Amino acid sequence: MLSSLPSARPALLVVDDEEAIREMLAEFLSLEGYDVETAEHGMAALGVLETRLFDIVLTDLKMPKMGGIALLEQMRRHAPGTVGIIMTGFGTVESAIGAMKNGAYDYILKPFKLDEVLHVVGRAAHKRRMESENIRLRQAVSLYKVSEAIKSSLSLDQVLLTVVESSITEIDAEVVSVWLDDGEGGLIERERAQTEKPPTGARDFGELDAEAVSAALGEYERVLVHGADAHRFFTDADTPVRSFAAVPLKTPMRDMGFIAAMSTHPVKRFEEGSRKLLSIVASRAAAAIENAKLYQDLQDTFQQTIEGLASAVDKMDRYTAGHSKRVADYATHLARRLGLDAATIEIVHQSALMHDIGKIGCAMNLNKPDQLTDDEYEEFKLHPMHGRDILSPIAFLHPLIPGVHLHHERFDGRGYPLGLVKTDIPLIARLISVADAYDAMTCDRSYRRALPHEVAVAEIERCSGSQFDPDISGEFLEEIETLRAQSRDVGEQVPD
Ligand SMILES: [Fe+2]
Repeated sequence: MLSSLPSARPALLVVDDEEAIREMLAEFLSLEGYDVETAEHGMAALGVLETRLFDIVLTDLKMPKMGGIALLEQMRRHAPGTVGIIMTGFGTVESAIGAMKNGAYDYILKPFKLDEVLHVVGRAAHKRRMESENIRLRQAVSLYKVSEAIKSSLSLDQVLLTVVESSITEIDAEVVSVWLDDGEGGLIERERAQTEKPPTGARDFGELDAEAVSAALGEYERVLVHGADAHRFFTDADTPVRSFAAVPLKTPMRDMGFIAAMSTHPVKRFEEGSRKLLSIVASRAAAAIENAKLYQDLQDTFQQTIEGLASAVDKMDRYTAGHSKRVADYATHLARRLGLDAATIEIVHQSALMHDIGKIGCAMNLNKPDQLTDDEYEEFKLHPMHGRDILSPIAFLHPLIPGVHLHHERFDGRGYPLGLVKTDIPLIARLISVADAYDAMTCDRSYRRALPHEVAVAEIERCSGSQFDPDISGEFLEEIETLRAQSRDVGEQVPD
């Protein structure tokens, strides 16, 4: 937690109801290089602790309103990094030891010698320094991990999730969100991480005024504000936002949005260190977001291209409108059911969309009202090879070739174009084969009406082990029943 790192001069709060002791300790410890404030009892100390962070609290045990032990207990909750030292008279040494058991770092017996105080306080300051070194080290390690995670992801969602989840831990915020431009001149919250248990128990932080944040970033390049200045960036918040930090997300080419962090904690605030840490994350994230977006655009263009091609193929034959898309849907559901990995499922989807692309190369009329002649059928059977030839010159379409080239192979080896047998036929082609057959049977063709679902199911069962891989056709038939049941559940018309 950067927010509790000590400054060069350790900050020390002296709490004692005897004014003389307070004054003496304050003067002496200031001369020794400490940044000292004082309070006359526990309650007053809590008030001071709300305004700033201290490295060390040196407190008397017995005081009016609130004693040392209660103070340390409160402190542990609100400023866990602060080191507590108890001062006590000889008769209450037992209580001092009890206080140590409850988290006090050390105790000093009254009446004390000043060099004793210096010794104990010096050790406490050393402990704080060591802890903060550790924190810095941990931060460096986790920043490294964050950068690696961000760098290695090409998925925009994954990059954004890594950014918010790592930032919220690193700077100990309650909410961290990433806002990106929406392409229409506005900003949209694209990802958010939120602590499960906000310290104030509050959940309603209202709406972040993204326009105001953006304007402030435009002017100052950074935002790090507290109290009312923080709260003003939120509208309709029930709980006051006590600390707010925002850093821009930008590349040399363009501004893309910002990362914002907020806290309602009464004491802990984001400090410059937290803001810097967010900036480092933001600079790495900006490049990764840009990459992920470009990659996403490429993927989208690719998807649109193959969908366009698939519908062009379907339009060649007025009876096969939507066929490629339906086959792709069936095959994708089947691939998911079989537990294939995401990348393979995507290839199944795209291959199925493109499975009949080779029909473009068939010199024949696919709109004939009756069955194909033998010659026409021979010509038609060339379409898987035409498909392969169409895809071959384009390197990034190569993963689609097996499904396109081999979707008319049969499990018993009597298919075409190669006559492959059983599992020599690539899995993707075996999936498309059954999906293709089901859709062909259940839709109208130029030479016949659509067959009822039950007839198509019976036919697939009959051809299981000859035309189709029996394992796959079995799974397909179960999947198709599931899909039909789901459609019925949402009130869709399911054909007989
Ligand atoms: Fe085909």
